[in-house]
Amino acid sequence: MCIGVFDSGVGGLSVWREIIKVLPGTSVTYFSDGAYCPYGNRSQKEIIDRAYLITDFLLSKGAGIIVVACNTATAAAIKALREKYRIPFIGMEPAVKPAALHSKSGTIGVLATRGTLNGNHFHASVERFASDVNVVAKVGEGLVELVESGETSGSKVKELLKSYINPMLEQGADHIVLGCTHYPFLLESIKEVAGDSVVIVDPAPAIALRTLNVIRENNILVSEMVAKDGYPTTFYTTASTGALMMMARRIDSEIPEQNFKKIEI
Ligand code: DGL
Repeated sequence: MCIGVFDSGVGGLSVWREIIKVLPGTSVTYFSDGAYCPYGNRSQKEIIDRAYLITDFLLSKGAGIIVVACNTATAAAIKALREKYRIPFIGMEPAVKPAALHSKSGTIGVLATRGTLNGNHFHASVERFASDVNVVAKVGEGLVELVESGETSGSKVKELLKSYINPMLEQGADHIVLGCTHYPFLLESIKEVAGDSVVIVDPAPAIALRTLNVIRENNILVSEMVAKDGYPTTFYTTASTGALMMMARRIDSEIPEQNFKKIEI
């Protein structure tokens, strides 16, 4: 048995990084849908269709639980996935709750894709947890593509980030929620643009803990998930393995090349 993790691309690696911290040695199958990335401007139907195919693939690899490590896919497809399959699915939560709770200025920023910001999930979270704060939400147009190409710093990244973050700062935001799993790879640049006094909220550690708890609650035997031999995560991508390998090795430089595989589904 393994934990399945998927994203439109390399972004979900920011969640994978946290999962392997709380569940070291556990077998993981990571799936990057690079050939269909970005998901941000795709229709809900397209994303659900991809999510079904990916889930079938992860099940064929023995997934006992699936982490939808993509805010956009969570917004579009998690309900459909939970209706169709019997295994537990963990989705990304836009972390407006902790940001709203801890904000002193009463203004928070949210940076996410169009799909996420237009989705019910986001609106429900804002209504439920952030109705008494000013929420400045911006679509991070172009950022996913930069991360996919490995460009996570430099002037192009900073200029783009400024155009989204400055309006948040102008309204007094003291917290910025990263509502897309690709954005933690831009953390250093985001911090430079936002300044030291702004708290950047990445939900990935909370999602990893939630994964651990759901595994326990559902009596999924972690011992059965411990990889027997070799490197415990295998990485699949519908695009070329190069980009995925480069980003994954920024997290762990020891991942063997044979653990990256191209697949067409
Ligand atoms: N990592 C995905 C997310 O969290 C990126 C979406 C996209 O491909 O546009 O939303």
